[in-house]
Amino acid sequence: MYLEHFGLARLPFEATSNGSLYVDLPEHREALNVILFGLRSGEGFIKVVGEVGTGKTALCRAALARLGDGLVPVFLPDPALRPIAFLATVADELGVVVPPRTPVHVLKQRLREVLLDIARSDQRVALFIDEAQTMPGATFEALRLLSNLETSAGKLVQIVLLGQPELDARLARYDLRPLEQRIAFSTRLAPLAADACRVYVQRRLIESGARDPGLFTTPALSAIHRESGGIPRLINALCHKSLMAAFSEDELRVERRHVVRAIAASEGLGRWRIRPLARLRSALAPSSLAARRPSASRTTWQEPRA
Ligand SMILES: Nc1ncnc2c1ncn2[C@@H]1O[C@H](COP(=O)(O)OP(=O)(O)OP(=O)(O)O)[C@@H](O)[C@H]1O
Ligand SMILES: [Mg+2]
Repeated sequence: MYLEHFGLARLPFEATSNGSLYVDLPEHREALNVILFGLRSGEGFIKVVGEVGTGKTALCRAALARLGDGLVPVFLPDPALRPIAFLATVADELGVVVPPRTPVHVLKQRLREVLLDIARSDQRVALFIDEAQTMPGATFEALRLLSNLETSAGKLVQIVLLGQPELDARLARYDLRPLEQRIAFSTRLAPLAADACRVYVQRRLIESGARDPGLFTTPALSAIHRESGGIPRLINALCHKSLMAAFSEDELRVERRHVVRAIAASEGLGRWRIRPLARLRSALAPSSLAARRPSASRTTWQEPRA
């Protein structure tokens, strides 16, 4: 591979949401602040919506790493579960032993007991649900009931929902309006602007041991930003292939022509990036009041309701 050629210690554009490679970008910083502020405020639900590959899982891991005292983290990466399996998974994550075929009322009772124990030690649970758009409707209802549990001191569980734009469509369903009304904080993850894209590429290179953060020339970075539409996953794929193209020519810098080769080798790239029209449509989505605000990562503070 090209590691030795470019003096890298590891692959800089690996396709994992590796927490150690988190880059603090304006688009993500605002969403991270909304999550951390929402959790500190003690309100029930916080929602983060972003297109495929914009960095929701990376953001989720960054938030989990910054939780501070008073919050017990639970991370559910795959919540496509029926209500009982969902509650059993949450219980399991909290260390409750749930034998198979435990009746649902016993499961709920055990979960409530453990949540009260946590509250007695002046803590509460921060439940992060990634890929929330895949949850069945009945599981959303179980989630709402879980968020209703409280003591005089406040909620026992706070919930952060992260999902693709389909999540908004799900929550707009008539039967899910009780949950939608409980979303106290919501934010959207925008694709990276050109400057953020440059910072992102350079930071990943430095974190991977590059001696020269200017390994990609400015025209190469412009081409990567344009072709990826600012989506981090597509930026990663193009950067990786561009490095391979430069390596195959024995070059020490990535030039625009290497990116052109990378694009040619990326079948389907154009199909998956967000086209300007789709971006406009997503920005005008009726369920996102926030989308009408001009900032890169749009944030809404909705009045919390009991
Ligand atoms: N702020 C960031 N710092 C470092 N890497 C990032 C950042 N944001 C995104 N990435 C990288 O971009 C890629 C896509 O990010 P991620 O998997 O978090 O997207 P996603 O929104 O969760 O996608 P999906 O909708 O498919 O679940 C990952 O390799 C991730 O590591
Ligand atoms: Mg994800």
